[in-house]
Amino acid sequence: MVTTRAPEDAYTAEPFVPEGPRDLTALRKAAADCHGCPLHRDATQTVFGAGSAHARVMLVGEQPGDQEDRQGKPFVGPAGKLLDRALEEAGLDPADAYITNAVKHFKFTRAEPRKRRIHKAPSLREMTACGPWLAAELALVEPELIVVLGATAGKALLGSSFRVTQVRGTVLEEEIHGRPERLVPTVHPSSVLRSDDREAAYQGLVSDLAVAARALS
Ligand code: URA
Ligand code: SF4
Repeated sequence: MVTTRAPEDAYTAEPFVPEGPRDLTALRKAAADCHGCPLHRDATQTVFGAGSAHARVMLVGEQPGDQEDRQGKPFVGPAGKLLDRALEEAGLDPADAYITNAVKHFKFTRAEPRKRRIHKAPSLREMTACGPWLAAELALVEPELIVVLGATAGKALLGSSFRVTQVRGTVLEEEIHGRPERLVPTVHPSSVLRSDDREAAYQGLVSDLAVAARALS
C-alpha cells in the first residue's frame, strides 16, 4: 500500500513508554533509549524528570539546556539556580517538587562548528512526540498542582493557543491527558535572566509561584 503520510508525522515516544505497572526508575530507564523524534541524535542524553514520586507539585519547563544535557538532570544550570531561589522565596520547597520538561532532549544550533551550542525552541511536532513521557510522569506522580514554566510547557499541556501573559499567576482547572488537573502558569525562569528589568521580572515570577504555594496550602 502506498502511504502519503510524511515520516515526520509519525514522531512519537509512545512505543518507548513501558506499559503496565511502572515506577519512575523504569520510566527513566526506558526514556534513556527513546528515539521517538530526531532530537535524540545530537543531544548527549535524555534528561528525564527528577524528584519524588510523592511530590505535591510538578514543575514543567521547556527542554534541557546545555548544562542539563551534559549532567543529565533538569534545571541544574543558571535558570535552575534562579528557579530554586524563587521557589524558596515563594514558600515552595524545591525538595518537595518533581521537576521535568515538556521535551526531554536538548535542541540546539551552533553558529560555527565546535562553538557554543545555542538553544533552539522545540517544534510543536517535537513537543507532541515527547508528550507520552510527560503523560506518564503525571500519571505516576499525580501532583496536586502543576506549575507551568513558560509558553512551551503551556502549549505542550494546554494546546497551541496558550498565552502565558493572559493566564500567569492564576489557578486553572483543565483536563490533561484525561485527568482533571490544577495548574498555575508563570514565565520561564530563563526569560527572567534575559529581561531588561531583571528585578521586576524576578518578582513577577516569585509572586506567581506564591499563588501556587497558596493553592497547595
Ligand atoms: N530550561 C528548561 O526549560 N529546562 C531545563 O531543564 C533547563 C532550562
Ligand atoms: Fe524521545 Fe522526547 Fe527525546 Fe524526542 S525529545 S527522542 S520524543 S525523549
